[in-house]
Amino acid sequence: MKRRIGLLTAGGDCPGLNACIRGVARASYELFDAEIVGIADGYSGLIQGDFQELSRRDFSGILTRGGTILGTRRTPFRDMRVIGDDKVNKVAQMKDTYRELRLDCLVCLGGNGTHKTANLLSEEGLNIIGLPKTIDNDIWGTDVTFGFHTACNIATDVIDRIHSTAESHGRVMVVELMGNKAGWLTLQSGIAGGADVVLLPEIPYDVEKVAAACEARLRSKKSFTIIAVAEGALSKEEAAMKKKERVNENPYRTVAYRVAEGIQKLTGMETRAVIPGHIQRGGSPCPYDRVLSTRLGVMAAELIKEGKYGVSVALKGDTVVANPLAEVAGKTKMVPPDHELVRTAREIGITFGD
Ligand code: F6P
Repeated sequence: MKRRIGLLTAGGDCPGLNACIRGVARASYELFDAEIVGIADGYSGLIQGDFQELSRRDFSGILTRGGTILGTRRTPFRDMRVIGDDKVNKVAQMKDTYRELRLDCLVCLGGNGTHKTANLLSEEGLNIIGLPKTIDNDIWGTDVTFGFHTACNIATDVIDRIHSTAESHGRVMVVELMGNKAGWLTLQSGIAGGADVVLLPEIPYDVEKVAAACEARLRSKKSFTIIAVAEGALSKEEAAMKKKERVNENPYRTVAYRVAEGIQKLTGMETRAVIPGHIQRGGSPCPYDRVLSTRLGVMAAELIKEGKYGVSVALKGDTVVANPLAEVAGKTKMVPPDHELVRTAREIGITFGD
């Protein structure tokens, strides 16, 4: 049985993409007569017909490599059906490229936006399989996404390292972690790194309560406080506003700076903001992500062998499953404010500022 497979990685990169690509490729070569085409830079390459025939050698030595050998780009889903000044019909061109390449299926590795476009292409009649990558861990239908554990390790290391300098100076340190909509990374690494305050997009905070937590620590002879804040965390006032009303005149004055400024004003305690940023997405995947990426990639190859498309591979408990794309696309897995992890954190004294 021969199958021509297109592979693309879209959206923000993360550690584990190459391990997953390798998993798909190796299992495909093992399970059937596979021909693999790499599409460059996500859906942009599919639109522009930018691709490369790949061979076994291309998948060698990439298990531990960060980033993606295919390149990636953000091509927003909301623009997919919009014909702009360039007059390009993106959906039609993606379908043309798929047909010109004589693909039997297209495997799309990506996050929420990628899954929405994957579902669109599936509805348009293409054979699509999605694979869940993102350091945000916010894809509906999977317990874990690949990239998340590596990012947690990096973020935890940042929080660990901040402790000694915070303690030496007796400062409040506000560490801003990635996660615009969902706070999984901040919650997990906040607990793992022993943060005193955790601020999430799902639980609006009151800066006065955060300041009170810093002062309470001071009274109990803890001269420093570590705050882990997700980049999308909102104060109660901001959360009550419509998105358009939340004017931030200076885009570099991110939430960590706003929180730090508020605390310094309210408490007089010396406060610093720390933003590890894209370091959280960089470098080699941790062993957990290498294995998870491989398992999910291998499942994709098994699905191709069975001719089962229109699905996204996921981890449920300890089982790798395939969810219908239509069921997962367009939904975001947020942290439920009453989640057991939130309760656990509260019960060990972590403040959420609510
Ligand atoms: O979706 C992954 C993510 O790292 C988010 O946590 C973050 O908000 C966003 O990507 C950053 O995007 P970019 O790399 O385009 O700046």
